[in-house]
Order: sequence, then structure tokens, then C-alpha cells
Amino acid sequence: MATAELAGKHLVLGLTGGVACYKIAELTRLLIKAGATVQVVMTDAATQFITPVTMQALSGRPVYTSQWDARVPNNMAHIDLSREADAIVIAPASTDFIAKLSHGMADDLLSTLCVARDCPLLVVPAMNRQMWQNPATQRNVAQVRADGIDVLGPDSGPQACGETGDGRMLEPEAIYEAIASFFTPKILSGRRVLLTAGPTFEPLDPVRGITNRSSGKMGFALARAAQQAGADVLLIAGPVALDTPWGVYREDVQTAQQMHDAVMRAAADYDIFIGVAAVADWRVDHVAEHKIKKTADRALPSFNFVENPDILASVAKMPFPPYCVGFAAESGDLDVHGEEKRVRKNVPLLIGNLGPLTFGQDDNEVVLFEASGATKLPRADKQALARTLIAEIAKRVPNTSLIK
Ligand code: C5P
Repeated sequence: MATAELAGKHLVLGLTGGVACYKIAELTRLLIKAGATVQVVMTDAATQFITPVTMQALSGRPVYTSQWDARVPNNMAHIDLSREADAIVIAPASTDFIAKLSHGMADDLLSTLCVARDCPLLVVPAMNRQMWQNPATQRNVAQVRADGIDVLGPDSGPQACGETGDGRMLEPEAIYEAIASFFTPKILSGRRVLLTAGPTFEPLDPVRGITNRSSGKMGFALARAAQQAGADVLLIAGPVALDTPWGVYREDVQTAQQMHDAVMRAAADYDIFIGVAAVADWRVDHVAEHKIKKTADRALPSFNFVENPDILASVAKMPFPPYCVGFAAESGDLDVHGEEKRVRKNVPLLIGNLGPLTFGQDDNEVVLFEASGATKLPRADKQALARTLIAEIAKRVPNTSLIK
């Protein structure tokens, strides 16, 4: 998550009665860290599970719990609070609160400001599996959806009551991702984006191999930004230690050949291909079946290398290729090598890293190479840069690819 992803956004965060309230402390922290301002409103029941003091400390604002709060000059907290908000998020949303929403009831501050709102409303259910499955709850959830309210989750799994099933609240990170996605313009709506990310691993024997220092962070950030921009995203990842971005399909591979095969199986169905992976250029022609042993005469092992397929060039050579974007990490003369590489790989856009030290770092500085010239982008953290790059790519993708 980037530092200022939600800068300028004001959220009313409504807590209703449920043990999942404790997780909203973490959600509040994530929202504040991303630059949002958060006004917490709690029902009476919610205050039984977590104190307004905790929520005030985390949000940095006094918490509202009553519709008769004298702090609001005109005593119309339900109007004032909802008018300032870019969105209202109810988490956890109890069975009772969803029932109230579905009927437009307004008997406390939180339900009243939901009815009085003129901004989007997102609800995050949290309840026991039987309560979730209850036909009345299902009717109410269908009704709030039909009223244009976004319902996030619920998740499935072990519940606080000891039972297991549907009804668990989404984890704070997932709620955060859904909120960030909600605020992202859907500039890639209807598009299908295929990406590669991370290094590849080329085995020498069953325990050893050759790899590189690519962390996968840039490719994963681009996959996340594309998904949040409304695209269907398939991420083909080499060996990395990163969580799959929310809503992204992921296929794990090890070697360049496996990455090539996975990409070529999928590419015809995609509008955009972004090759971010640091693919090994060579592999050994024969992988030893058993671990290579030291010999008595201490002879050094020797290997014959063969070239790996160039995945990006293979996709660009397809009869009807997706819009292809390459990446290049150069240790010098980027201006010359960047454009030369773009032409050699026959891609419309190549993104050059301004230094090999980007591997594993959280920020990056890049230059866009295309037929019309080169454009340098300011240094930024990889999440923010990913959003900028996705916007740049979206501007360039021909409309015709929509009919693929
Ligand atoms: O030639 P170089 O490795 O510098 O090219 C980098 C670009 O080409 C990246 O987009 C990378 O993902 C892609 N590439 C590839 N298959 C290879 C080597 C590189 O797709 N075998």
C-alpha cells in the first residue's frame, strides 16, 4: 500500500455490534497511513466491543456515538457527518444493521446518517454463519445491494463463536484494498491484462540454480494497480515472497521456459501484456539428475548454457498481439539502450529503470521509450509509480483491442 493513496479522501467509518470491531482498529490505521481522514461513528452495541477512546486515538478525531451530540452546532450530526464524507463504510455490519439499512430505518446516529447520506455506502458484514444464511438476512442483503449499496464479503472460515462457515468479516487489509479500489477510476474496465513478475530460477541440479535479485515488487504493484483500475488481471510470477494482490489471478512458475509456456497459453485472450519479470537469459542445457558432488581431485564443474526464449519478443510476434509493454534494467546509457531494446523487441512501449539498484527497493525512477520519444517520470514509490504507469498504458492501448 502506498503512503498517500487515499490523500484527500474523507471517510465516515461506522462500527456496529460485533466481535470483529477489534479488527477495525487495524483498518483505521491502514486508512490513516494511506492519507485518508476518518470520522468514526459507533452504535451503542459497538462500544461494548471496542472503546470510543481507542478509536479516537487511532483516527485522531473525537468519535460520535449519539444523535443528540451537543458538539455539532446545529445538532444535526446525521446531516453534517454524511455531507463531509466521500464514502461511508460500515464495518463490521451486524445482521441487525443490515436489516435496518434494507428498511431505511433511522433510530440511531449511524442508521440515520446512512439514510441521510448523499455519498456511496459500503458495508462489510460480520456475523455467525447461521445468521448470515438466515433467509431474512439474505433478503435484506439482496435488498441493500439492489439499493446500490456495495457489500464487501463476507469471508468464510473459523468464527469467534467456534463455528466455521460464511459470515466472517473480511480481514482489514482486504477491506482496505476494496476501499482503495472503490476510489480508483476504472480506466481499464473491460480490459484483460497479463503480466510477468519476479525473477526466474534456472536449476543446475536438484538443489542448486541460477536466479537474480528481482523482488517482484514492481510487477506486483502493476498487477494491483491494473486490477484496481477495473481490469481482469493474470499475473505469472517467478519465485518471490509476495502476497497476491487482491482480486488478481496468479500462476506461479520457476523457469523461463515455464514462464514462456504459461504466457503463450494465455496471451491470445489478453488486451495488454506487461513483461516485468527479470527473465534469465540462459539455462544449462542439461540439469544434473543428482546433486553435483565435489570430486576427490577437486575438479570444477562446468556447464553448457543455452539461450532461453524471449517471452516479450514471442508475444510481440503473435499475429494479433496484445498491446505489449517491456521493462529494461540497464546499468548505463539507458537513453541509447532503452530505445534500441524497444525497437529490437518490437514493442510500442518500453519502460527503462534509471538504475540497476531498483531491485528490491520500494521506489523507482523510470523513462518511457516509444516511437515518438522518451519521457522521464519523477522518482516515486513503486505503488504510486504503478498507478501512473497504468494510466500511461491505458492512454495508449488502442480501442480495437476491446473487441478481441
Ligand atoms: O533483454 P532484456 O532482458 O533486458 O529485456 C527486458 C524485457 O524483456 C523485460 O520486459 C523482460 O520481462 C523481457 N524478457 C522476456 N524474456 C526474456 C528476457 C527478457 O520476456 N527471455
